[in-house]
Amino acid sequence: EKNGYDHFMLKEIYEQPNVIKDTYRGRLHANEGIIKMAGVEDNLQKFLNAERILIIACGTSWHAGLVAEYILEEFTRIPVEVEYASEFRYRNPIIRPNDVVIAISQSGETADTLAAIKLAKEHGAFVFGVCNVVGSSISRETHAGAYTHAGPEIGVASTKAFTTQITVLTLIALRLAQAKGTMSKSDFHRHLQELELIPAKVQEALQTNEVAKAIAAVYKDAPNCLYLGRGYNFPVALEGALKLKEISYIHAEGYPAAEMKHGPIALIDEQMPVVVIAPKQEHYDKVVSNIQEIKSRSGKIIAVVTQGDEQVKALADHVIEVPYTIDALSPLLTTIPLQLLSYHIAVMRNCNVDQPRNLAKSVTVE
Ligand code: F6R
Repeated sequence: EKNGYDHFMLKEIYEQPNVIKDTYRGRLHANEGIIKMAGVEDNLQKFLNAERILIIACGTSWHAGLVAEYILEEFTRIPVEVEYASEFRYRNPIIRPNDVVIAISQSGETADTLAAIKLAKEHGAFVFGVCNVVGSSISRETHAGAYTHAGPEIGVASTKAFTTQITVLTLIALRLAQAKGTMSKSDFHRHLQELELIPAKVQEALQTNEVAKAIAAVYKDAPNCLYLGRGYNFPVALEGALKLKEISYIHAEGYPAAEMKHGPIALIDEQMPVVVIAPKQEHYDKVVSNIQEIKSRSGKIIAVVTQGDEQVKALADHVIEVPYTIDALSPLLTTIPLQLLSYHIAVMRNCNVDQPRNLAKSVTVE
């Protein structure tokens, strides 16, 4: 059932072009300029009247929520807050009837997320679920929702769940932007068309496998690793670091690139690998200066760049090239080589990739 792959994780990484397509199938009609999602359409007024969107999740799903925060605010101008479910439920949170809560969960069984949903419902909020497992507790407990259609995710480290969650949340953001008129018609169409190209571009991004493997061989014994990104790719840095720590047991931290000078820069020396997500988009020049700061302190730079990039290539020790896409969709591509890098490092360290120590696929206790 691993389909010839050594591990479920690798199989699931490689399934991403297809499952992203499954996620938007029947929902995205790029040529007609239509996004159809029953759970959103049936509750459109609730979304349009939302004074605020609260996103609650844990782990990788929380990272998808952070990407969605950037996308939803940019496209719809609705204020968004992203909360760890465990913090939200225990801090007497402010929940108003006009809040829309989006709960994100692959398994649909995470205890803290489930409890946070119940709390939000008690306060009268409308709760929308983004789950992968059909019929799961969270999908039943929410008022409405949209499944990710990623298929069973067996590897404990979440991969295809993450990219399909982002896909669903992007579709929602685009539909709301259209309904609110907060995005120009031409931008809307451009995003729909670009979204349709994502599976093929993810397929291309998967061709970085050999490069990722070669880089893994160089850094597999590193005790620490930093991940940096800005804007839409800041959450990708967090997710890259989580993937590395959970399956390879290397200490890794993700940061917004500009926060480096407020502390983490003290860690940089010739021993420290720094993975910088630096696609050609807004803030590119700022990321280039962050890379220069790392280089002048002899840090080892592994950069994820847009195909054809020259500037970062001249500075970095290693580059991994992914196809170009528009800014908001770039996490769907930049995430791929980071998944592969973690995977190969874990394999080279003889770690149990699919079942890392101390971890469970569904966290049904708080
Ligand atoms: C990381 C990972 C966990 C889960 C988290 C939430 O790879 O798998 O961090 O993302 O436990 O799980 P779900 O999405 O099932 O609520």
